[in-house]
Amino acid sequence: MDSIVVTGGTPLNGQIQIAGAKNAALTLMPVTLLSEEPLTLTNTPRLSDIKTMTALLQSLGVEVTALQDGKVQVLSSHNVTNTTADYDIVRKMRASNLVLGPLLARHHQAIVSLPGGCAIGARPMDIHVTALEALGAEIELKDGYLHAKAKGGLKGNKVPLRFASVGATENVLMAATLAKGTTVIENAAREPEIVDLAQCLRRMGAQIDGEGTDTITIQGVDKLGAATHPVVTDRIELGTYMLAPVFAGGEVECLGGRMDLVGAFAEKLDAAGISVTETDKGLKVARNGARAKAVNVTTEVFPGFPTDLQAQMMAMLCTAEGTSILEEKIFENRFMHAPELMRMGADIEVHGGTATVHGVERLKGAPVMATDLRASVSLILAGLAAEGETVVNRVYHLDRGYEHVEEKLGAVGAKIERVPGS
Ligand code: UD1
Repeated sequence: MDSIVVTGGTPLNGQIQIAGAKNAALTLMPVTLLSEEPLTLTNTPRLSDIKTMTALLQSLGVEVTALQDGKVQVLSSHNVTNTTADYDIVRKMRASNLVLGPLLARHHQAIVSLPGGCAIGARPMDIHVTALEALGAEIELKDGYLHAKAKGGLKGNKVPLRFASVGATENVLMAATLAKGTTVIENAAREPEIVDLAQCLRRMGAQIDGEGTDTITIQGVDKLGAATHPVVTDRIELGTYMLAPVFAGGEVECLGGRMDLVGAFAEKLDAAGISVTETDKGLKVARNGARAKAVNVTTEVFPGFPTDLQAQMMAMLCTAEGTSILEEKIFENRFMHAPELMRMGADIEVHGGTATVHGVERLKGAPVMATDLRASVSLILAGLAAEGETVVNRVYHLDRGYEHVEEKLGAVGAKIERVPGS
């Protein structure tokens, strides 16, 4: 397995192009299942999770053509031959469960394995199941698979979610576009990826109102047509690279960055004494000299501070001046990067969902282990600030969510290289 070697202490200066959002692309690709006509996605990130979703869709009979080195994906579901999402593919990535809603809506049946994904908590599917049942689906769990049927098709209804789950909102939003009558999703997730999904569905002819708020109304239609849709900017990749110059100093402009995607995160950077400015092309972050200051962070659903930036923020706070408290409210087991950061000299105490980070002056390079996607990148960031060499092992998680990380950071001056594994 590959590892990434980072030699810390070099200031970073220059521009980094931010890619299309992994999490948006992973919900936009299954949208193809809702229509016989082609869906073209542009600005698709080149990631292993996208390859996993491609393999899953192909196993259902979807034709997927990657153009422009994978930046454009043309998907066609005119000949779906299979409605079972097999465990062997689904276990690699939780987002595979996003085929459930579309398959039920157009084919009135689906068998979907319960998912795997990052080991950051239990991550059940109860909210998805209850929501689709509200639309008339009958769903049973047998042998690790959800067996779902909707005789005569789905019917619009009021769908209150017990928690604003991103995936459940996406599944029910997709499903409701072809349901008979009106669906109202209450306590819907408000993430930018949901807004992007609604915009894509609307381009295909869906009738949707209220995305980006906690109440989304969908008027079912008989059919959806062809569309071309650009994937929204990846706000998590954006936040990650916004932090990059904070570690060893410098100034980095993140091209394609938008403040509305990272508002709560930018506010915390501001409170830590790090300047973020909007430019014509994106967002610029600079740290010259002074250490960042400690800040307290609580992860929340959008527009709150994203859980997917918690690990990176913790890495930054390890060398901030003072003590910071991080509270993880979305996932119950998402501090696995803390012991790895401690191997580099960080001073962190974890009690349940709360981590207390006492800032130290300097981290020291060490061999560390990547435990999940965002943890992997947090260790690379920490390596940028550390004295000497940090070797991040088991980086396959990283390739699920960050395209060409060593090239992007290398281009702004980081000393970073990938060492191919045996
Ligand atoms: C999505 C993102 C992921 C991000 C997460 C929270 C994708 C592909 N992934 O994941 O990167 O970290 O949002 O912002 O978009 N839950 C239940 N029952 C359910 C569904 C969820 O209890 O049926 C719980 C989960 O265990 C978790 C919390 O709700 O604790 C959040 O999950 P959810 O919002 O559904 O996240 P995902 O869609 O899986």
